[in-house]
Amino acid sequence: MKFFIDTVNLDEIREAESWGILSGVTTNPSLYAKTGGKLADFEDHMVKICRACEGLPVSAESVAETTEDMIADGRRLAALAPNIVVKLPICEASLPATHALAKEGVRVNMTLVFSAPQALLAARAGARYISPFVGRFDDIGDNGLDQLETVVSAVKNYSYGYWDAEGGPEIITASVRTPHHVTQAALMGADIATVPFAALKKCVHHPLTDAGLKSFAADWAKVVAAQ
Ligand code: G3P
Repeated sequence: MKFFIDTVNLDEIREAESWGILSGVTTNPSLYAKTGGKLADFEDHMVKICRACEGLPVSAESVAETTEDMIADGRRLAALAPNIVVKLPICEASLPATHALAKEGVRVNMTLVFSAPQALLAARAGARYISPFVGRFDDIGDNGLDQLETVVSAVKNYSYGYWDAEGGPEIITASVRTPHHVTQAALMGADIATVPFAALKKCVHHPLTDAGLKSFAADWAKVVAAQ
């Protein structure tokens, strides 16, 4: 499974990339809003992210509400950098927009996916990536991982024609909150997990690793003291 980072923070992107594990970046309007970012700077910021991880897919989301506006946004965003992926929420307006953009070779990441029918429609319309959410199901007392498993199984039963040459559509496990989400997404064969930096750091650690590090350091200190 590939790791994407779910952030608009350039330092986090650079640090994750320095680990040698990064295969892409996803962003969303809420993440950008939280930084206090201005509307006028949004596209420049997306370009900075694209440059920080050249060659890796960077999802930039459109908040347009009509098919026409989504297509216009998609074309404009796609022109910002060769590694831009246009993120659109699944809805009646976005399916024709996805289809039109896919026919022009523009990659779409279909987001806010919460069911297998939504994911199958996204794939048929030509989405390059499909983003089922996990954590938000958990937030409402449902089991996000069970829902993810249904989406992965349903989508992987078929091929779709648009992005076969590059292995698409790929499923991006989104709304990832914990290392357990990451483990289970990988066991189900999800292609990608997009993980916030804090959760990515949690994936590096394990209490037994931390305890082991302490005991190795303490024992080595005894060896050094005995010299
Ligand atoms: O970018 C979509 C997604 O990863 C959102 O996560 O934590 O806001 O549910 P979250």
